[in-house]
Amino acid sequence: MGGLYMANRVVEKIKKGLRGELVIPGDKSVSHRSVMFSALGDTPVRITNFLPSADCLSTVGVMRSLGAKVEMLSPTELVVTGNGLHGLKEPETLLDAGNSGTTLRLMMGMLAPQDFVSVFTGDSSLHKRPMGRVIKPLSQMGAHIVGRAGNTKLPITVVPAGKKLQGFTYDMPVASAQVKSAILLAGLFAEGTTTVVEPYQSRNHTELMLESFGVKLDYEGTAISIQAQDKLTAPEEILVPGDISSAAFWLVAASVIPDSELLLKNVGINPTRTGILDVLNDMGADITLTNERSSGSEPVADILVRSASLHGTSFGADIMPRLVDEIPAITVAAMFAEGETVITGAGELRVKETDRIQAISDQFNKLCSCITATKDGLIIRGGSQNVWQQGTCFSYDDHRIAMTLAIAGMAGNGVEIEQPDCVAISYPSFYEEMAGLY
Ligand code: S3P
Repeated sequence: MGGLYMANRVVEKIKKGLRGELVIPGDKSVSHRSVMFSALGDTPVRITNFLPSADCLSTVGVMRSLGAKVEMLSPTELVVTGNGLHGLKEPETLLDAGNSGTTLRLMMGMLAPQDFVSVFTGDSSLHKRPMGRVIKPLSQMGAHIVGRAGNTKLPITVVPAGKKLQGFTYDMPVASAQVKSAILLAGLFAEGTTTVVEPYQSRNHTELMLESFGVKLDYEGTAISIQAQDKLTAPEEILVPGDISSAAFWLVAASVIPDSELLLKNVGINPTRTGILDVLNDMGADITLTNERSSGSEPVADILVRSASLHGTSFGADIMPRLVDEIPAITVAAMFAEGETVITGAGELRVKETDRIQAISDQFNKLCSCITATKDGLIIRGGSQNVWQQGTCFSYDDHRIAMTLAIAGMAGNGVEIEQPDCVAISYPSFYEEMAGLY
């Protein structure tokens, strides 16, 4: 398969379509939770298809500091043995969440009820991200958490609350799986019932996994309730599905690069994550799900994607939690589609690893002046006029921006990516897979 190569970090134009099969690596959200929740059990849990990315390894480091035993049998296979639900140990060092918002936010929920001190740090991106959204509701439950910038930013210290946290009902102002999960984890230890009410349903991996650990959750509309537990009953094995957020880059690349046909194997298709399939289908994509099956408590499928003539679309807040991480990749689909794509209700993108609305518009406008950033979204003018001479774009050290630039480079006339190595946060083998497609 000739045509694509990367040299000096330059992605050259694909001369032929993308063809072949890719096995999609483990899901980041599920990998984090598999280690965290297993560390609350008291029997060994074998985790397979774990994502050995920098973010998930931050979670492994944090759980080890809290006394869990994590044996790496291979990069993708671990055995985690906890000391029971009430067996976490006071960490002797700082808990470093690295670049990972999921690690920090979920762990604040798990540590707020503990009777020891824990101090969190992270990288420069994580120091800028809003943590008040978790600290505020946990404080309403009685937690004592202090942080910089009026208890909203890292560094953050969790001190013992001095008494049991109190269950309560929290109407979440933003649909966020991280906030929801933090409160449910605190609810595992709180007095009475803890209820979270979401404006729109966010990814439900925490709920599915807690249930597989024997926790009974109650659902009413978009409200989820949990009670304190004496113990968690860990399953013997957790099989992590492939990450649809990683598959997203290939779904878009194969859709827009003529003469492509890719089979993406073992992709998680949990309905709370499949917004990208709905949007691409709506744009005219040629996507077929095959071999649908279960991977533990999560549904998976192989996805066949062929190139297609895409057209613009519009979507907003209601679908956002189901595709929030895929907006950068969807932007590339929109650039190569006929007509305009209007994305609204995406304000959360401004507080991800970087401000992704600004990053997308600033970098792609260097190539083709086809994007208008709005307060909470993007307007993308797609079409064949979007051609550029090979350009240089900055990743902002944000993994999803780097991979988005790479697929734009594959589909267009090449993009040189500044700071490309951040793909290791969620998809360490991304460039290798890409090189293997030519
Ligand atoms: C995640 C939830 C989402 C997502 C992030 C992972 C999770 O964040 O963007 O990459 O694992 O719970 P929010 O919950 O902040 O929307």
